[in-house]
Amino acid sequence: MPLPIRIAPSILAADFSKLGQEVRDVVEAGADWVHLDVMDGHFVPNISFGPDVIKALRPHTTAFFDCHLMIAPADPYLEAFARAGCDSITVHAEAGPHLHRSLQTIRALGKKVGVTLNPAAPLSVLENVLDDVDLILIMSVNPGFGGQKFIPAMIEKIRAAKAMIGERPIELQVDGGITVETIGAAAAAGANVFVAGSAIYKGNGLDDYRTAVTALRGAAETARA
Ligand code: DX5
Ligand code: ZN
Repeated sequence: MPLPIRIAPSILAADFSKLGQEVRDVVEAGADWVHLDVMDGHFVPNISFGPDVIKALRPHTTAFFDCHLMIAPADPYLEAFARAGCDSITVHAEAGPHLHRSLQTIRALGKKVGVTLNPAAPLSVLENVLDDVDLILIMSVNPGFGGQKFIPAMIEKIRAAKAMIGERPIELQVDGGITVETIGAAAAAGANVFVAGSAIYKGNGLDDYRTAVTALRGAAETARA
């Protein structure tokens, strides 16, 4: 059985002045996961939010909190993100010299373990940690900002990652430039979790979010069938 298609709106594109409502609305609109983009102004050239904001959002929903750490170093902060209520924590392979230790730490904190790669990084970096992760995230833009264009070469990378995963029950996620135009190719290549920021939050409230989530899911299901 293939893993289910999951739509994971990134609140990076939400209205930060009313984040609680933005999270509740997107979950009511049909989102499966809530994607939390944490940026430090060092690993990536932008600053977003940290564990205290996630902690404040936690009571607003029981939905899965999918935390994408774009910070270096990550290790000193893993416990804080676990305590804040993240369900999965994804670290960049490029963010530190001891990736395996970071993954072990997340596992020991009782959270789903994710690893991600920048577009330029080769998949081979992951060969030795395949049995230590629950999720592989293929970045389809250079991390740091929402609203960028999907990098077409990442389709082949998703296909190769899917082959590398084989029968392991690892979620294959794609993040950056996901729209109704790009999601199909990513799904056909083997991705099952789709992060979308601007494609969802460009709308204005619950009804628009529901339309966007439904359209994305439909395009992914159609392409996979
Ligand atoms: C990029 C972030 C993405 C981003 C996606 O650094 O990791 O999650 O917010 O935004 P869109 O869907 O607008 O490309
Ligand atoms: Zn992200």
